[in-house]
Order: sequence, then C-alpha cells, then structure tokens
Amino acid sequence: MFHAIQYNGTREENYELVIKQLQALIAGETNFIANLANAAALLNQFLHNINWVGFYLAEGEELVLGPFQGLPACVRIPFGKGVCGTAAQNKKTELVPDVHLFPGHIACDAASQSEIVVPMIKNGNVIGVLDIDSPMKNRFDDIDQHYLEKFVEVLVASL
Ligand code: SME
Repeated sequence: MFHAIQYNGTREENYELVIKQLQALIAGETNFIANLANAAALLNQFLHNINWVGFYLAEGEELVLGPFQGLPACVRIPFGKGVCGTAAQNKKTELVPDVHLFPGHIACDAASQSEIVVPMIKNGNVIGVLDIDSPMKNRFDDIDQHYLEKFVEVLVASL
C-alpha cells in the first residue's frame, strides 16, 4: 500500500525522495501502463500548483494520450506540434514559463499558464513524453527540469 508522506526537505531532497518512491512503486512491475499510471498519481500528490500531469505515448509520428491526472485532454498530438510535439521531435525538454508565448501551444485546459515537457527516450527513440501544466506562470525551473528528467530516466528503465 502507498503511504503519503510529508516532503519536508529542500526541493532537491524532496525530489530525491519522490524518485525513491517511484523506484519502490515500480520495483518488480514491468507493465508500462501501470507504472505510468502510478507515476502520474505520485507526481500529482507531490507537486504543488499544477493542474495536469501525465504522459503521451509515441505511435508512429503522433503522440497519443496515456495515463494522467487532471481534466480530460486532447488525444493526439503530431510530432512537431505544441509543446509536447516539439519536445518529442527535438528529444529535448521544453520548459515554457508562459504558454501563451509559445507558438503553437495546444490549450487542453484553459487554466494552464506554464508547462514542462520531458521526452522519454529509450535506445535513442522517443517513446513518449511527461507533460506537466501549471495554472501559474513561471512554475517550473531548472531544478524541476533536472529532477523530472531523472524521474523519467528511472521510469523508462522499467520498460
Ligand atoms: N499543452 C500541450 C498539450 C497537452 S495538454 O497540456 C495536457 C501542448 O502544447 O503540447
């Protein structure tokens, strides 16, 4: 059973802790959808000031909605479109302080103001992305980016 804990440390310590929780949650489980579902739920109870967290999975030249927490979202995003498709195409994290200033941003939830998208890369191929939206501008910084990239690495390794 999952036990909610208090994250009382520095931001870095808290991220290290949530990555340990992820490792415990996915240990011995190879079903990727189950692991992604738990990963989205884990991040949702850990991160403050977010309104959407979840995954899009690559299918050909498109990203298709995967496990998430938040309002229902757009189902298919072509590679190269929106924040998610851009991160997938470039195989690089997109950190967007203000989504309204990102050309081609796809608004799934009108509340979203800032966003971070981390590509999931396995053997050099993009297999999906982690997408997190916030109702605040400038919600994410390089500490978030660093640890969310580590989080995704651990997750992808469970595939
Ligand atoms: N804003 C994303 C679309 C996905 S939703 O935020 C859940 C984008 O521009 O790719």
